[in-house]
Amino acid sequence: MNSDKIKLVLPHAKYRAQVQDMVQKIRDAGSRLHGTSFLNRDFDAWLADYKINKHERVEYLVFRQSDKKLIGLLQIRNTPYSPLSNYMAGHVGYSVCIDERGKGYATRMLKMGLELCKTLGIDPVIIKCKAENLASIKVVLKNNGKLNHEETHDGESIKFFHIKV
Ligand SMILES: CC(C)(COP(=O)(O)OP(=O)(O)OC[C@H]1O[C@@H](n2cnc3c(N)ncnc32)[C@H](O)[C@@H]1OP(=O)(O)O)[C@@H](O)C(=O)NCCC(=O)NCCS
Repeated sequence: MNSDKIKLVLPHAKYRAQVQDMVQKIRDAGSRLHGTSFLNRDFDAWLADYKINKHERVEYLVFRQSDKKLIGLLQIRNTPYSPLSNYMAGHVGYSVCIDERGKGYATRMLKMGLELCKTLGIDPVIIKCKAENLASIKVVLKNNGKLNHEETHDGESIKFFHIKV
């Protein structure tokens, strides 16, 4: 696994260009962001959402220290998971820049996310993955995720993993 130092930084307007560039490249490649729904709309809505909801969910920008490149986004959702709620997100969401995938960054980002969850008293951490998202499932398994159950929503199979922290 690569050992380039990465650090988590809170959202700020000064990162607009880097965030927009990352999002555009992900879109151009036909991929998408997960756990960052407002960012799928636009940067200002995303920043406003962060300011309003930061006690419920915090989005971190993940920078590589050596060249200060934005390599991904990590979201921690400090909201109790309720199987009865329509909000089916898990506790952690992550996305990596197209040209930085396959280098072990998401595995390390989830590890950092688990540490943050631990400080918030979230245990077990629930992670939700589409059954077809093999890369994300691998990331979860490498962080000791255990398959808890599987559900079908709108014809899509979703796997729910639990990770003890
Ligand atoms: C899922 C995602 C975060 C993975 O990021 P990443 O930095 O490439 O992940 P890592 O490098 O830490 O590990 C990915 C693992 O999946 C494997 N992988 C990648 N693509 C794969 C594929 N299509 N099928 C199977 N395995 C795959 C990699 O080989 C690697 O395993 P390895 O270390 O054993 O070789 C990234 O693809 C992404 O941002 N996707 C869009 C957003 C998303 O799906 N987020 C998760 C929502 S649950």
